[in-house]
Amino acid sequence: MDKNSKIYVAGHTGLVGSAFVRQLKSQGYTNLVLRTHQELDLLRQDEVECFFEKEKPDVVIDAAALVGGIKANSMAPADFFYVNMQIEQNLIWTAFKNKVKKFLFLGSACMYPKECSQPMKEDELLTGLPEITNEGYALAKVCGSRLCSYLYKQYGADFISAIPANAYGIGDNFDPEHSHVIPALLVKYTKARKNGDPSITLWGTGKALREFIDTDDMADAGIFLLNNYSGYEPVNIGTGEEISIMELSKMIKKITGYQGDIVTDPSKPDGMMRRLCDNSKINSLGWKSKIKLEDGITKLYKWYLEQTQGGKDNE
Ligand SMILES: NC(=O)c1ccc[n+]([C@@H]2O[C@H](COP(=O)([O-])OP(=O)(O)OC[C@H]3O[C@@H](n4cnc5c(N)ncnc54)[C@H](OP(=O)(O)O)[C@@H]3O)[C@@H](O)[C@H]2O)c1
Repeated sequence: MDKNSKIYVAGHTGLVGSAFVRQLKSQGYTNLVLRTHQELDLLRQDEVECFFEKEKPDVVIDAAALVGGIKANSMAPADFFYVNMQIEQNLIWTAFKNKVKKFLFLGSACMYPKECSQPMKEDELLTGLPEITNEGYALAKVCGSRLCSYLYKQYGADFISAIPANAYGIGDNFDPEHSHVIPALLVKYTKARKNGDPSITLWGTGKALREFIDTDDMADAGIFLLNNYSGYEPVNIGTGEEISIMELSKMIKKITGYQGDIVTDPSKPDGMMRRLCDNSKINSLGWKSKIKLEDGITKLYKWYLEQTQGGKDNE
């Protein structure tokens, strides 16, 4: 990929797509092609075909998807399956037909089997069933990844896929109904500090271990893979830094300045006790995570305050 390659970032208004745009620009890639959902509905094959025939991008980064939490996924498996299958099939196949030189498909760690050994290695895909609550989404994502692999195997097309860990970052969703754990905790602790609440209750034992990656770090890894990887297997993107939910809470308590106690409620579910990507493949290719969790969350909190309070952490 050279600096004036024509790069189409699908889903550039989203959490991950917007990070790719930031990183590409900061690394000197300026020839970007962007379309909002309104300008190009990726569910419409005819529209996708017209777009590729007109624009002829050299490189495609697929960060467009229907994404949601456990509740949304478990209530609408048909939507999550259909929409994601349709977007990825339209994008991948049309890109292939239009001789796109390099394609990066973004999967998700939920593609791995529920009973996967930890840390999760790329060759464990399809060795078991995914978690039932997001099965529709996970199956669609596995299919997208495999379509890239098959194009590589059958036609030698340079279509690759990556499996990033849980992401957080600028542009994250802070709506309590839809937010991931890090923005949810940032809001919770900020409110508790303002209300002077003596304690905060954490669901579960706090012992479950998780891995989180800053979206700028993830995008940096994706660009690295575009430049340095070709192959059948997907590649995990993670930090290798594991943290318990309790330690994460303490970190967020410190960042938000909350002074009260953290109390656990072990009657509530922990979810999986460990969920970590094996990053040996991307590390051996030469990429290592650059953004420490505490630094990334501090940056995100600053951004959140700028959006909500003009940057001031009002008491
Ligand atoms: N967030 C994470 O923790 C995480 C972790 C690992 C991997 N990923 C992967 O990264 C990708 C993006 O996730 P995200 O968190 O960035 O999601 P997101 O914030 O919801 O962004 C999704 C993007 O796709 C666009 N889109 C959805 N349907 C479309 C359609 N029919 N036509 C055109 N554009 C459409 C959205 O536009 P509108 O908003 O206008 O609909 C938005 O720009 C997904 O494949 C996901 O699996 C995410």
